[in-house]
Amino acid sequence: MSSQYDSFATTYRKAVALDVRRYVDHFSLTRVLGDVTGKSVLDVGCGTGIITRMLKQRGAGRVVGLDLSEGMLAVARAEEERSPLGIEYVRRDIADAGALGRFDLVTASYVLPHASSPEHLSAMCRGIYEALAPGGRFVAVQPSDALEVNDPDFYRTYGVRASVEGRLEDAAPMKVTATMVDAEITISAHYWTRGGYEAALRRAGFGGIRWRSPEVAPEGIEAFGESFWSNYLARPYAMLFECTKEPAAP
Ligand SMILES: C[S@@+](CC[C@H](N)C(=O)[O-])C[C@H]1O[C@@H](n2cnc3c(N)ncnc32)[C@H](O)[C@@H]1O
Repeated sequence: MSSQYDSFATTYRKAVALDVRRYVDHFSLTRVLGDVTGKSVLDVGCGTGIITRMLKQRGAGRVVGLDLSEGMLAVARAEEERSPLGIEYVRRDIADAGALGRFDLVTASYVLPHASSPEHLSAMCRGIYEALAPGGRFVAVQPSDALEVNDPDFYRTYGVRASVEGRLEDAAPMKVTATMVDAEITISAHYWTRGGYEAALRRAGFGGIRWRSPEVAPEGIEAFGESFWSNYLARPYAMLFECTKEPAAP
């Protein structure tokens, strides 16, 4: 099965290098993850492996990247070949992630909005739940349900453009454009509210759901100045959550 990502996997590599990803998304994700030393981690929807590699570089133990797009995996595997870290990449649907074993941690960076219906989102969450050891944690980052959509240029300074078709409701079609110096890609995904995510997570069996706001890395403030980030922080583009697979009752 081909994916929208197959055609622009190489360009996508540039999008993950955008300052907003490095100084906000990656920094915030790292803060929520905490110490990953020695932990087994599954990065679902790993794409070109930006987060997957970051996890391994931060001392994680077994690290597996899972994705459906052969094109994205090819870029991730080429990077692994160029600069080996010992990451395994597998082509699989998130809904079937449970077959890969039990991990201490699962991460999903800008992946869950690819769910096109509540059933689809629940199947993804259930696959992630199955792939976790009891007590394991799932941490995800995705577009915020409070992001500015009335002014499509609101995030232009940061290289991002987002629009939602129709009403702001769960599964509404959403388009996200990332603009780099020499390229642009537009991704089709879906808008989800916190309530929509929480319902799917609870249906899958997760508990301890906690929402986290993105933060700007001190290096980002140093590089661009505080006022550069003020629009972003007024209406953050991203939101993060963490939740746990509660250990079975004795
Ligand atoms: C926006 S990219 C994010 C890539 C990477 N996590 C990052 O932060 O740069 C979304 C990725 O999720 C993958 N994906 C979407 N639905 C999936 C599914 N059901 N199973 C596996 N991968 C999926 C896509 O192929 C794509 O590589």
